[in-house]
Amino acid sequence: MLSGKKILVGVTGSIAAYKSAYFVRELIKLDAEVKVVMTEAACEFISPLTLSTLSKNPVAIEFIKDEETGEWQNHVDLGLWADLFIIAPTSANTLSKLVSGNADNLLIATYLSAKCPVWIAPAMDLDMFKHFSTRDNLEKLTHEGVNVIEPTSGELASGLDGKGRMEEPEVIADLINDFFIGDSLLIGKHIVITGGPTYEAIDPVRFIGNHSSGKTGVLLADECAKRGAKVTLITGPTNSQVIDKNIEVVQIKSAVEMKTAVEEIWNNCDIGIFSAAVADYRPKLAAEEKIKKSDKNLTIELVKNPDILLWAGEHKKADQYLVGFALETENEIENGFKKFEKKKLNLLVLNSLKDKGAGFGHDTNKVTFLKEDNKIVEFELKDKSAVMVDIINEIEVDLSQE
Ligand code: CTP
Repeated sequence: MLSGKKILVGVTGSIAAYKSAYFVRELIKLDAEVKVVMTEAACEFISPLTLSTLSKNPVAIEFIKDEETGEWQNHVDLGLWADLFIIAPTSANTLSKLVSGNADNLLIATYLSAKCPVWIAPAMDLDMFKHFSTRDNLEKLTHEGVNVIEPTSGELASGLDGKGRMEEPEVIADLINDFFIGDSLLIGKHIVITGGPTYEAIDPVRFIGNHSSGKTGVLLADECAKRGAKVTLITGPTNSQVIDKNIEVVQIKSAVEMKTAVEEIWNNCDIGIFSAAVADYRPKLAAEEKIKKSDKNLTIELVKNPDILLWAGEHKKADQYLVGFALETENEIENGFKKFEKKKLNLLVLNSLKDKGAGFGHDTNKVTFLKEDNKIVEFELKDKSAVMVDIINEIEVDLSQE
């Protein structure tokens, strides 16, 4: 999955331009953010409206966006925006301009401004592909670090048979996916994530619970799986569902059940991310039958639940990495660091209730990371899924420094 990745698709004048519609669709299915830049020749083969509809973004074609206002298309911004720029199809003409730097169109100007990896998927007739100038151009671009996706062989639009067909859109999209997860340090790591609330039974129909939706655990699980980790999500009751089918989901209800599930696998895990809102107390005895109301008041004795994160910290091996969450309302940093030490964490994600848009019931959150050596990293208010990306990125940075 390419969530959070910005892919700029260049489309040039080749009959294979019709494939760019399928290609953009594949990228969107993989959750990438896609923008398209076309040459004027490409517009003869496929309508910009098609690509703008599929990519959910306006298509860039000319230097001047609006003749009346003179508003121009900022190719520098476009080039810098992309995490990857792929020109698919790349015609023989564009190939030659990529080498000469002849920026007479927006696509080439954008290419010259791009700082990200550039990929090209050539498409042309077999003799054009065999021509020494094409081979020379490809060699030069490869030498400069451009990734060339070789065309395949088969029947060509000319009716001839040979090498020159643009690689299939699904294959190119898979290659891009592999490229992005290929450099994650989480590939093959086993990560246990706790999420959701816990329900502590009072009787067969009643429980003590909390407002946690379980969304955080699910978002974290998907982000880790996307980066190639083997993920076990141990979650309390939630309506949120993981997207990635490879995630093992262990459904539990109570804190005691959650602890048992964690105990079973913690020893074999590389990383633990404990985001569950575990009830601190449970009824001492859960009644076997539904408690009938009477005229008297009812007192329920509560006993302390095990602190699962504390247990994991106490049983942490030197090469295991542990993340905990905390919600403080006063002396946040001081109390946070106490928790960090006590639970032997590598990272504490501190939630704030004081900031507007943060905390329960919002799609946004504002967090602060507490780390070893009293290091504090503060973040802006942002979308909850972007916060998850920040957390996982931080883990990756720490792993890279081990
Ligand atoms: N946690 C846990 N088991 C518990 C309680 C909490 O694993 N029985 C974990 C949570 O998943 C979270 C962190 O511990 O990662 C929260 O720590 P906690 O000490 O409960 O802090 P707060 O809930 O923030 O606050 P308080 O100390 O006021 O309860």
